[in-house]
Amino acid sequence: MKFSFFLPTKLSFGFGALDGAGGEVRALGGTKALLVTDKVMVKTGIAQRVTDRLGVSFDIYDDVEAEPRIEVAQSVADKVRSSGYDIVVGVGGGSAMDMAKVAAGFATNQGQAKAFVGNGLFAKKPLPSIMVPTTAGTGAELTVTSMVTVDGHKQWINSPLLLPSVAVVDPELTISMPPGVTAATGMDALCHNTEAYLSNLASPITDSAAIEGISLIVRHLERAYDTGGDRQARESMSLGALMGGIALQAKMVFGHSIGYTIATRFRLPHGVSCGLPLPYIVSNYATACAPKMKRLAEAYGVAGGDDPAELGKRIGEKTMAIASHLKIPTTLKGLGVPESDLQALAEECVTMYPRPNSPLVFDAKSMAALYRRMWEGNLEA
Ligand SMILES: [Fe+2]
Repeated sequence: MKFSFFLPTKLSFGFGALDGAGGEVRALGGTKALLVTDKVMVKTGIAQRVTDRLGVSFDIYDDVEAEPRIEVAQSVADKVRSSGYDIVVGVGGGSAMDMAKVAAGFATNQGQAKAFVGNGLFAKKPLPSIMVPTTAGTGAELTVTSMVTVDGHKQWINSPLLLPSVAVVDPELTISMPPGVTAATGMDALCHNTEAYLSNLASPITDSAAIEGISLIVRHLERAYDTGGDRQARESMSLGALMGGIALQAKMVFGHSIGYTIATRFRLPHGVSCGLPLPYIVSNYATACAPKMKRLAEAYGVAGGDDPAELGKRIGEKTMAIASHLKIPTTLKGLGVPESDLQALAEECVTMYPRPNSPLVFDAKSMAALYRRMWEGNLEA
């Protein structure tokens, strides 16, 4: 066995954790903050709940959009370079935190935003940064990745230097999250934990996080969706989502790739687009990941028997039941994807979003077969 694991981010977790944000700013030497967020966070007063606690002067950049385009990354770069900020605070879901992470990088590294699309292209250490997630989903507060949309396609700005200095994960901030956002972001977190567990890059550390994350999410996502004020469910979901952020060091398999192909074309929230393939992905990978299926089935609460294909199918059924409860579509047909699009989507998936870390290798033909099963709602691999 051989693996490496790198997570320099300080994590402060729990109800009331936000009250410590000012202390974190001081500890990082911050005197002038740029708060990167979106207009919903400003309108709902959540941004102010954060700025009230910073204890330093600040400006707010609130032009982050869902699935931000590279132009938004450029605009946040222009903003952070326009004044002498010495700390960046990200408040919101994955999109806001991703833009905050690159803002910290762009403050100390010159060049157009698009020149950083790819891996490891920041030469200098970014500004210190604090991430405050307001959803329980992306785990972006603990990852090296910022997603950007370039010419309608999902791309990555990846660098270990982008790992935030501090993650303040306060479940209180998720209490007011509407059911639809709770559903989509929670499903994203379930995908991160499950796909990372199936990855060839999985290690005992990412597996431990993933299994705990899955177990928490499977037991609490529907509760958080049904009753937003259920504090125990919210706390468990926040924890499950950050476990997914840790597990993400093992990278995603083809579930997220499939999600990217349908998200841009059918304008779906990220968690819906990657949640739809999840049951099919698990049943498809079951044989390739045979030795790991028993533990996965236990985390999903569907243990029993030794046959990996049967366990994969049971997990798929359980995932579909959760998605149905959350009113997330479970078939491509139900989503309104034309049957005639399946081949082109499959080709885009394997060419644009390959996964060298996937234990299953797909070509356009085998991927098209998977798209057909997702269209029909057929879990039989
Ligand atoms: Fe995701």
